[in-house]
Amino acid sequence: MMVGNMWIIPSDAEKPMDKRTVRYEREHQITLKPFVKWVGGKGQLIDELEKLLPANGEKALSKYCEPMVGGGALLFNVLSKYDFAELYISDINPELINAYNVIKKNVIELISRLQEMQMVFLPMDGNGRKFYYYSIRDKFNSVKLADETAIEKASYFIFLNKTCFNGLYRVNRNGQFNVPMGAYKNPMICDEENLLNISKVLQNVTIVCGDYTLSKDFIDRDTFVYLDPPYRPISGTSAFTSYNADAFDDAEQIRLAKFIDEINATGAKIVLRQPNKELKTYGFANEF
Ligand SMILES: C[S@@+](CC[C@H](N)C(=O)[O-])C[C@H]1O[C@@H](n2cnc3c(N)ncnc32)[C@H](O)[C@@H]1O
Repeated sequence: MMVGNMWIIPSDAEKPMDKRTVRYEREHQITLKPFVKWVGGKGQLIDELEKLLPANGEKALSKYCEPMVGGGALLFNVLSKYDFAELYISDINPELINAYNVIKKNVIELISRLQEMQMVFLPMDGNGRKFYYYSIRDKFNSVKLADETAIEKASYFIFLNKTCFNGLYRVNRNGQFNVPMGAYKNPMICDEENLLNISKVLQNVTIVCGDYTLSKDFIDRDTFVYLDPPYRPISGTSAFTSYNADAFDDAEQIRLAKFIDEINATGAKIVLRQPNKELKTYGFANEF
C-alpha cells in the first residue's frame, strides 16, 4: 500500500529475487528467442521458473538439463542470461532436433536458404502463397532426413513453422506433416540476428535426439533439470492424441514419475511442469 510517498510492505511478503545478485549472470547479456513456435512453450511462465533457478547464496549449480526441450522457451531465457558450464537438451522429435543441430553447425547456409524462401513468399498474393506453402510442405514430407538433407529439411521445418496455422506441428498416421497454411500477413521467416545468436550459445550445448531417459547419465547433484512433458490426453479415443507421437498417456505419466524418482535420488534440482490450462492447446489441435 502506498502511504504518502512510501510503499508499506507486509512483513510476510515474499521477497523477490534480486536479479543483480544471481551467480551465473553473463557479463554481456544477449537476447535470445525460441526459433520456432511450439506447443507448451509459454513465455509468461518464465518469470515463475526463473525464481526456481539457483540464486546467490545457494550452492552453485553448474549444469542445465532440459530433456523435453521443444521450442526451448526456458532454455533460451537461461542462455541469454546465465553461464552454465555444461548444458544438455533433447527431444523425441527428429525434425526439431535436426533444426537445433543445423543452427549449431550450419547457421550461415540455413539463413541464406530461409532468406531466399522469405523473399519469394512474402511478396506473393494469397493464392501464390498457398501454392508455395503446399509445395514446401510436400518437399518436407518427401525428402528423407539424412546428413545430406539436414540443412534443406531444417529450412523447410522453420519455414513451415513460421507460415503454418498457429505454428502447430502435427503429423498424420504415416508421419506426414499435415498442418494447413496460416494467415499471417508478414511472418518473420528468417530472424537472422536471433539465429546467429542462438548458434553461438548452442556451441556449448549437447543436443540429443531421443527419449528423455537418455539424459540420466548427465544428471547429477550439480544439475538443474526442467521437465515439460506433453499433456495427458483428455480421452484415450481422441483421434489426435491416439496416433500422435506426442501422446502422453497414463503409462507414460507413470514412466516419467519413475524417472523423476531416479534423478531425484541424485540430488539434482528438478522442475516438472504440470498440465493445466494448456490442455486447451491440445484440444484446439483436435478441431482439425
Ligand atoms: C510441452 S512440449 C515442451 C515445450 C517446451 N517447454 C517449449 O518451451 O517449447 C513437450 C515436448 O516433449 C517432447 N517429447 C515427447 N515425448 C518425449 C520423450 N519420450 N522424450 C523426449 N522428449 C519427448 C515433444 O516432442 C515436445 O517437444
